[in-house]
Amino acid sequence: MSTTQANKIEIIKAPTSKINEVDFDNLSFGSVFTDHLFECDYINGEWQQPVIKPYAPFLLDPSAKVFHYGQAIFEGMKAYKDDNNDIWLFRPDENYKRFNTSAVRMAMPEVTEFIFMEGLKQLLKLDEAWVKKGNGSTMYIRPFMIATGTGVVANPSEDYKFMILLSPAKAYYSGEVKVLIAEHYSRAANGGIGAAKAAGNYAAQFYPTTLANKEGFQQVIWTDDATHTKLEEAGTMNVFFRINDTLLTAPVSERILDGVTRKSLIDMAKKEGIPVEVRPVLVSELVEASKNGTLKEIFGAGTAAVVNPIAGYSYKDVYYELPKIENSYASLLKEKLTNLQNKLTEDTFGWTVKV
Ligand code: COI
Repeated sequence: MSTTQANKIEIIKAPTSKINEVDFDNLSFGSVFTDHLFECDYINGEWQQPVIKPYAPFLLDPSAKVFHYGQAIFEGMKAYKDDNNDIWLFRPDENYKRFNTSAVRMAMPEVTEFIFMEGLKQLLKLDEAWVKKGNGSTMYIRPFMIATGTGVVANPSEDYKFMILLSPAKAYYSGEVKVLIAEHYSRAANGGIGAAKAAGNYAAQFYPTTLANKEGFQQVIWTDDATHTKLEEAGTMNVFFRINDTLLTAPVSERILDGVTRKSLIDMAKKEGIPVEVRPVLVSELVEASKNGTLKEIFGAGTAAVVNPIAGYSYKDVYYELPKIENSYASLLKEKLTNLQNKLTEDTFGWTVKV
């Protein structure tokens, strides 16, 4: 089947639903999946028949290249249900574009818009009872692609599997988040794959994050690999700083992911009249602002965590506590963003897309 002919999705329904076994009020992030998934294989240079089928494990050859060379990419998106029971996506075109940018960087085939968007919409419609409304409930969406071609020769796979999973979710982090500023480890380097949502970027964070956890920090603030003087990302999120009343965040680069939440917050903050500076932010500036009392907030921003305030950070073995302030930018922007996503306020940006 050629790429353009793959325009009808086969649907195989699960004989029974697991939905009654799920405690939607006590969801641990990313641990529960809906009844169905979307799947499309890429074989002989072409996307094959797309299918929605019951969620289940699948078999792969032990020599599949994803196991040996980590050819794997993913996206993180969310769907929201409004008071009319309509389901909405938030800027899905941005995720689609970024997915294909990641695919190109990892020598993987680009996915057609039909497969990505129509696959997602039909899957959400089939499992719509799983999309809960209100009280912070969302549906976390995980599109991903892996190299399924066999053989341990180190070259790009010829075959791939693209899938979309749906996972009902509430908060990503619970409790305070304290961070450690990286002085040795790096998340990404110029010319590397930091701007791609490649699985390996996350795996590479696990070890330094585990070391930080042992010291009582939940996440690491990543600095640039060459000098460790510029503040770049926080854990799996982009990162914002408020010094006096100015909101600062690093520009996207080969090392920094072009986060959808990040760019939405920048636009929303500007609309609120908040002064925003997108420029390299130095560790020295942060420490100085802590010392002279002008550092008011740090928060992470990402699809999964939305906006996550940081309680304090450690640098060169000194812990700097953030002040507890009222009317924080983090809570203002989080409220504005989630209200827009949940269709509780008018979407003047035109970012929400009905399923
Ligand atoms: C997201 O925020 O969607 C991410 O990709 C982070 C993920 C590691 C949970």
